[in-house]
Amino acid sequence: MSNTLGDPEMKLIPLLTILFTLSTAAYYPPDRNSLQGKVVFGYQGWYKTGPYDNSWFHWFDASPSNKSFDSDFWPDTTEYPAECLASSGFNFTDGRPAKLYSNSCPGTVDTHFRWLYEYGLDCFFLQRFYTVTKQSKAATTPLVSLVMKSAEKWNRTFVIEYDLSGGGENSTFSYITQDWNYLVSNLSILNSPAYQHHNGKPVVELWGIGVRTSLSPNLTYSLVSWFQSQGCYVIQGVDKSWTYNTSGPYYPTYLLGDVIQPWMVGVYWNSIVNSYLSRSGTVGDMATIRNRNLTLQYSSVIFPGTTASNRGHAAGATINQAPFTRDNGTFFTRQAAIVSAQKPLFIFVAMFDEISEGTQVYKTIAKKKDVPTNVRLVAYDSEGGDFSNDYYLVLSNNITRNFRNVWNVPYEYQPNVTTSASATATSASATTTSASATATSVLQGEEADFVI
Ligand SMILES: *[C@@H]1O[C@H](CO)[C@@H](O)[C@H](O)[C@H]1NC(C)=O
Ligand SMILES: *[C@@H]1O[C@H](CO)[C@@H](O)[C@H](O)[C@H]1NC(C)=O
Ligand SMILES: *[C@@H]1O[C@H](CO)[C@@H](O)[C@H](O)[C@H]1NC(C)=O
Ligand SMILES: *[C@@H]1O[C@H](CO)[C@@H](O)[C@H](O)[C@H]1NC(C)=O
Ligand SMILES: *[C@@H]1O[C@H](CO)[C@@H](O)[C@H](O)[C@H]1NC(C)=O
Ligand SMILES: *[C@@H]1O[C@H](CO)[C@@H](O)[C@H](O)[C@H]1NC(C)=O
Ligand SMILES: *[C@@H]1O[C@H](CO)[C@@H](O)[C@H](O)[C@H]1NC(C)=O
Ligand SMILES: *[C@@H]1O[C@H](CO)[C@@H](O)[C@H](O)[C@H]1NC(C)=O
Ligand SMILES: *[C@@H]1O[C@H](CO)[C@@H](O)[C@H](O)[C@H]1NC(C)=O
Ligand SMILES: *[C@@H]1O[C@H](CO)[C@@H](O)[C@H](O)[C@H]1NC(C)=O
Ligand SMILES: *[C@@H]1O[C@H](CO)[C@@H](O)[C@H](O)[C@H]1NC(C)=O
Repeated sequence: MSNTLGDPEMKLIPLLTILFTLSTAAYYPPDRNSLQGKVVFGYQGWYKTGPYDNSWFHWFDASPSNKSFDSDFWPDTTEYPAECLASSGFNFTDGRPAKLYSNSCPGTVDTHFRWLYEYGLDCFFLQRFYTVTKQSKAATTPLVSLVMKSAEKWNRTFVIEYDLSGGGENSTFSYITQDWNYLVSNLSILNSPAYQHHNGKPVVELWGIGVRTSLSPNLTYSLVSWFQSQGCYVIQGVDKSWTYNTSGPYYPTYLLGDVIQPWMVGVYWNSIVNSYLSRSGTVGDMATIRNRNLTLQYSSVIFPGTTASNRGHAAGATINQAPFTRDNGTFFTRQAAIVSAQKPLFIFVAMFDEISEGTQVYKTIAKKKDVPTNVRLVAYDSEGGDFSNDYYLVLSNNITRNFRNVWNVPYEYQPNVTTSASATATSASATTTSASATATSVLQGEEADFVI
């Protein structure tokens, strides 16, 4: 049960580089019956390639070119099966074609679950959009089946998360509930040993309650109540302002429970995160829950940074990540440390694979010199530092280990990988400025345009 990754002596290796040489991967499957002490990952699984899907959706928003590319980072695709990859039209500096993966390809989903396994991570919350629930089950359920199959193979867990973005008042209740019935009856997701439970109930998340105000308070109340009547443990993805107005229209829905999870992507950035979280977000919300004697459980959202210059077709020759820079990983680990200490039920990382908003933690080309040419891109070393492509998976393992310690839940998992990281990543001290972190996220509207 050695803990090489967290061994403080490792930090003393000079030349600003820590070399983690990790020990045997001890098989330690996640507890399928409890969310307590878990760090879970949002999974979009929405990338398409021309050859596989006859669409490039979520890689490009028109036919492939450097004007339509949607991401500011480039994924590390070296481990995906060849049949899952397609040439993007861009090339690496040595002339090799730069390829992208399709999520419809079983090997892609399998690779992502293998990474969860190899880095000792537990669970995907698969995003299922309102717009998807309106489309044919034949077109939209293969991804659910792939996730279920790979979760079983790698002994990980998964949860269905409905994103209510784009939902209309008159159709959302029927589409969402019919979809759940289909997944349960026709796909038998709840018979899968990989489906995550808590308190003996299958877990479901409804994202956008009180955020997507096209849905009336009455409707959101009905939806949460319906899932609870089906025996589900319901997580509500809500806005950061959920506590402000106890006579506000959505407040009765929030109180239904079971877990409140305010969205934090784009709310704060590295230089203000300490002050923001000193009284808002997890810290303020959990105090409010205690002060009001609410029976709600709490889940904290953290994110490694975010950038969407290409996606937003922002002007300029280079990507502008400010103010949501990753800062060598310190932004991510700082949030994790602050929220972990509050002991929320579980932590949600937004997201595993949302490279199109630059929130990804999966393997991504880390060095600027290695990205394709003829398209503006950043890499993990764009702020200095020297990182491996899996750096944010290594950090995710560490965040999981630290959070398990807070809950005193055993965790023995050592990823069987060797990686290096900048020693300065542990040294940053935040210059706190203002607690009024209210930068409007440009990032919350994108779900609405999800189409197959
Ligand atoms: C660690 O991974 C390497 C490469 O994937 C593999 O060859 C080796 O057998 C693994 N070791 C253990 C103890 O699992
Ligand atoms: C990539 O290389 C191919 C083959 O050499 C070439 O036809 C194509 O124009 C290159 N793409 C870019 C964006 O330079
Ligand atoms: C998953 O768990 C089963 C049953 O304990 C075990 O036989 C199998 O080897 C595990 N798979 C992996 C990838 O560890
Ligand atoms: C929903 O249905 C009601 C009653 O049929 C109708 O008055 C209303 O316009 C509809 N709303 C929308 C957004 O379609
Ligand atoms: C789902 O299962 C039900 C009940 O077995 C069946 O009637 C229905 O045709 C199935 N739906 C699809 C789209 O296969
Ligand atoms: C509230 O929702 C329920 C269930 O969908 C519906 O039966 C009821 O008519 C709605 N009430 C109002 C005031 O819209
Ligand atoms: C709280 O919500 C109620 C109902 O929508 C509204 O009338 C009231 O003005 C709100 N109070 C504040 C302080 O925003
Ligand atoms: C919460 O419970 C405590 C102890 O029972 C009580 O003193 C306090 O008034 C309650 N607060 C609220 C807001 O209900
Ligand atoms: C986009 O591609 C065009 C044509 O290949 C090239 O002239 C231009 O420099 C590229 N833009 C960037 C930002 O690399
Ligand atoms: C990242 O690390 C590099 C190299 O140690 C350092 O020069 C740079 O200041 C760091 N940047 C941040 C934002 O921590
Ligand atoms: C992992 O977490 C421990 C405890 O917070 C910390 O000391 C260590 O520096 C972290 N390692 C990395 C790579 O961030």
